[in-house]
Amino acid sequence: MNLIMKMLAVPATVLALWAVNAQATTDDDIAKRLEPVGKVCIQGQECAGMSVTAAVGSGGGMSADDVVAKHCSACHSIGLLEAPKIGDTAAWKVRADKEGGIDGLLAKAITGLNAMPPKGTCSECSDADLKAAIQKMSGL
Ligand code: HEC
Repeated sequence: MNLIMKMLAVPATVLALWAVNAQATTDDDIAKRLEPVGKVCIQGQECAGMSVTAAVGSGGGMSADDVVAKHCSACHSIGLLEAPKIGDTAAWKVRADKEGGIDGLLAKAITGLNAMPPKGTCSECSDADLKAAIQKMSGL
C-alpha cells in the first residue's frame, strides 16, 4: 500500500466507525421516540408484536383473553350501563336464551345493542374472535 492509499484508508476507517456510532445513537433515539407508539400497539389495534401473540392464541385472531381484556372488560367487568358481567353466567344465559343462543348474542355483539358498541369496539376482531370472547365472558 502506498502512502496515499494509507492516508486515505485511515480517515475512511474513522469515518466508518463514526457512521456505525452515529447509526447506533440514531437507533436509540428512534427507539425512544417510538416508545409511545409501542405502548399504543400493546393496547390493541394491529401491529407486528400483536400478530405474534395472536398466532399463539386462537390461530390468526387475538386470543379470547386478549380481546376481553382489551375491548370488553371496560364495561363487562363492572357491568357498566347494564352490561352483563364477566362470569355472571346466569345473566348471559337469560340473554342467550332470548337471542337464540351464542350465535344470537354474537349477532348483537357485531351490530351493537343500545350502549353496547358494534363489535364491542374491537373493529379488527373477526366473528370467531368475538364469539370466543363472548364464550369466555359468559362461561356458556
Ligand atoms: C362501552 C361499553 C361496552 C363495551 C366496550 C363492550 N360492551 Fe358488550 N354490552 C355493553 C352493554 C351496555 C350491554 C347491554 C346492552 C343492552 O342490553 O342494552 C352489552 C351487551 C353485550 C352482549 C349481549 C347482547 C344481547 O343480545 O343481549 C354481548 C354478547 C356483548 N355485549 C359482547 C361484547 C363483547 C364481545 C365485547 C368486547 C369485544 C363487548 N361486549 C364490549 C357494553 C359494552
